[in-house]
Amino acid sequence: MGICKLLSASLYIASAFASTSYIIKYSTVPGYFLQDLNTTNATTFDYTTVNFGLINRTYTDGQTVDKYGTPLTQWQKFEAEVIRLQLAAGAGSKHTDYKVVFFGRHGEGYHNAAETFYGTPAWNCYWAELNGNSTTSWDDAKLTANGVKQAQVANAFWASRIALQKIRTPDTYFTSPLSRCLATANITFSGLSLPKKSKFVPLIKEYLREGISIHTCDRRSNKTYIAKTYPGWKIEPNFSEYDQIWNGVTSETNDAEDLRSKVALDDIFSSKSGLFVSVTSHSGEIGSLLRVLGHQAFSLNTGAIIPVLVKAEKLPGTPTTGSATWTQSPHCTAPPLSSISNGACVCPSSAAPVTSLLVTESPSVTPTVTFRPTGV
Ligand SMILES: *[C@@H]1O[C@H](CO)[C@@H](O)[C@H](O)[C@H]1NC(C)=O
Ligand SMILES: *[C@@H]1O[C@H](CO)[C@@H](O)[C@H](O)[C@H]1NC(C)=O
Ligand SMILES: *[C@@H]1O[C@H](CO)[C@@H](O)[C@H](O)[C@H]1NC(C)=O
Ligand SMILES: *[C@@H]1O[C@H](CO)[C@@H](O)[C@H](O)[C@H]1NC(C)=O
Ligand SMILES: *[C@@H]1O[C@H](CO)[C@@H](O)[C@H](O)[C@H]1NC(C)=O
Ligand SMILES: *[C@@H]1O[C@H](CO)[C@@H](O)[C@H](O)[C@H]1NC(C)=O
Ligand SMILES: *[C@@H]1O[C@H](CO)[C@@H](O)[C@H](O)[C@H]1NC(C)=O
Repeated sequence: MGICKLLSASLYIASAFASTSYIIKYSTVPGYFLQDLNTTNATTFDYTTVNFGLINRTYTDGQTVDKYGTPLTQWQKFEAEVIRLQLAAGAGSKHTDYKVVFFGRHGEGYHNAAETFYGTPAWNCYWAELNGNSTTSWDDAKLTANGVKQAQVANAFWASRIALQKIRTPDTYFTSPLSRCLATANITFSGLSLPKKSKFVPLIKEYLREGISIHTCDRRSNKTYIAKTYPGWKIEPNFSEYDQIWNGVTSETNDAEDLRSKVALDDIFSSKSGLFVSVTSHSGEIGSLLRVLGHQAFSLNTGAIIPVLVKAEKLPGTPTTGSATWTQSPHCTAPPLSSISNGACVCPSSAAPVTSLLVTESPSVTPTVTFRPTGV
């Protein structure tokens, strides 16, 4: 008998870009969205009933109609405000960038359904380490029918915002390489009336993937498969054929995840990604991106979307190399006997917790100890 418990092991992440000589400092600008208020309950927040959370307010320029006398929508007024903020910071400023980032969490995947089915402790201690059970697979989990529906709701909501609010759609699109995000982004942005110069052609970025645990749902598919499934989508340079990060033995800590989330954000803010940006990712990873941005914690339900107004200041300085601890996650080698209240579980006595890989890798991966930034 044994109890799952985290052990410590150190892996290192070399942070960011030797090629630049500035450090980007992020903050979020409150006053525009409900999701920025500590009085908003993320659990009951439904972005489709509150206009993506945009607060109904007046703006300093006081403009309420366009040049033809047509009333401006809240989203049109907000877009004008963001342009005003950027102009005030300096047009084409090398120092300050504002962006509205739409963070979308993928719809429900088979791993989400399985965690509910088995209960979280048993899921974490055993089932999540397998590729699936005899009837369902959840390695690089696909969307369930409910997950597809959630993405269709997002699609319909974007269509309604375009028609009713004349919302500015994203200038660029980024997504995690995991199947559930690729499918969610695809459904969410298909068939919309988008400007010619900002069609939906997402860039797949390694560092937008979910926080890496020993669960097989956090291991991605190979590049050939991704490219074949979504022909025409962009994949960042240096995206390896096989997953070089997931190893089934050690898990990223929040600190480790935040280091690579910063690299992903720095990529996005250092490229010509425009004023409005879409990021399709995961609950854990969006949590990490929000921490790096200095936003309050805001846990998204499956399929939910929140925009955040971000201010990025480029300060003189030399980026440093970060390091952070990864942990080992002992688990059972057979279904656990019982769950205990602190979220851990009890293995059968014949199967004390181990830290070895439960699934066979083909080809086998060697745990990566250094993260090299890509795409800058
Ligand atoms: C919420 O924010 C307000 C002002 O921003 C602050 O005064 C208050 O203490 C915060 N409340 C909580 C529970 O954090
Ligand atoms: C948020 O809403 C959920 C569901 O109604 C509730 O259980 C929870 O207590 C609420 N949280 C806060 C901080 O009010
Ligand atoms: C803003 O006002 C509109 C129309 O009155 C309403 O439908 C919407 O829910 C309001 N949004 C927020 C965030 O309060
Ligand atoms: C496999 O897991 C799924 C949950 O995703 C569950 O619905 C199904 O019943 C399980 N199959 C078996 C044979 O237990
Ligand atoms: C992407 O979305 C379109 C439109 O919904 C659909 O026809 C297509 O099959 C999707 N591609 C994949 C790989 O699911
Ligand atoms: C890539 O993954 C796909 C789907 O899992 C698999 O069928 C294919 O054999 C893999 N290709 C390579 C080169 O490993
Ligand atoms: C890709 O990796 C190679 C080898 O480390 C490096 O020389 C190159 O600059 C990288 N390219 C990009 C776009 O990151």
